[in-house]
Amino acid sequence: MKGLILSGGKGTRLRPLTFTRAKQLIPIANKPNLFYVVENLAEAGITDIGVIISPETGQEIRSALGDGGRWKVRFSFIVQEAPLGLAHAVKTAAAFLGRDPFVMYLGDNLLSGGIRHLVQEYSRGQADSIVLLTPVDNPGQFGVAELDGEGKVVRLMEKPKDPPSNLALVGIYLFSPAVHEVIETLQPSWRGEYEITDAIQGLIDRGLRVSAKQVSGWWKDTGKPEDLLEANRLVLSQIARDIRGELSGSEVAGEVVVEAGARIVRSEVRGPAHIAAGALIEDAYVGPYTSIGRDAKVVRSEIEYSIVLDGTALQNLPRRIDASVIGQGVLVDGRAEGPKQSTLRLVLGDQSQVML
Ligand code: DAU
Repeated sequence: MKGLILSGGKGTRLRPLTFTRAKQLIPIANKPNLFYVVENLAEAGITDIGVIISPETGQEIRSALGDGGRWKVRFSFIVQEAPLGLAHAVKTAAAFLGRDPFVMYLGDNLLSGGIRHLVQEYSRGQADSIVLLTPVDNPGQFGVAELDGEGKVVRLMEKPKDPPSNLALVGIYLFSPAVHEVIETLQPSWRGEYEITDAIQGLIDRGLRVSAKQVSGWWKDTGKPEDLLEANRLVLSQIARDIRGELSGSEVAGEVVVEAGARIVRSEVRGPAHIAAGALIEDAYVGPYTSIGRDAKVVRSEIEYSIVLDGTALQNLPRRIDASVIGQGVLVDGRAEGPKQSTLRLVLGDQSQVML
């Protein structure tokens, strides 16, 4: 069985973070989302992995993944010229996939518990496709499945205005090569994309066996900033205390990772939290569900339930930062200089958000 990771697309819902970075590389607990995906595939014994990339962010994805040696897998990078849909991505990868069955894994999805059980299930030979479902509060933002009384999928719709159920399609799918024939016949949907939901519907309509499994642990599509925070919380809630950096005059409570080379000085850190190498936490408070990136600084400031990317400095802040995602190399300094102490000085990129 081969793997196909979808790491193209535009990431418009995560701007401004995605102006400068592929969305699949945004770190969750200081590790790119995409790395969790590769780990899941490798753990399930899938070593021949195609990676769909876009012309815009492809180079960044290639250099982040490298040759796959660290996971003992082999990558084939496949450029999709335009993000014309998930089924179009499969079509673009047709030569790589050949007649092998494959797992398609969206590069911005995160699933607890991995996919080994799904690959085992597929190998029993009882299904032409296995899809994963999970109940959500906002089904209209996903692919949605309608089941019959026996739990069989009868209909699939992409982002329906009037969802027939609350069961969202998770972005992890197992396919037999029969899906290629269906994809050949697809027309673009109302939103101009070749939809994978239409391809799966095509399998059902041809009488092929599509088996639906419910997710047992948690699943997250890290498509929006609030999803990133929630994914970060879920991953951090599974970490174990590991202090390798330097602590001085500080209280570090609970499940906290402090990587080698990070320093916590006269501060309080309450886990779960992840402090990456080279970070400095000084006269500060870092509360639960927070990730602080490499070489970032939190000085005379308080922060919780947030993600801070590499090289960013938060200093002298008058109020606690909460539920925030702060990009790379950002400076937020609360010390107003000069006479106009009541003014704000801001240098913000396009589509930044500041809530005061
Ligand atoms: O996350 C689950 C949802 O993923 C499913 O419920 C939907 O049925 C499915 O269509 C998909 O919806 P999204 O709106 O989240 O898809 P998005 O456009 O964000 O693309 C998902 C990933 O695939 C993302 O990492 C970018 C990549 N991609 C996307 C498109 C459209 C490609 O590589 N090529 C593409 O053409």
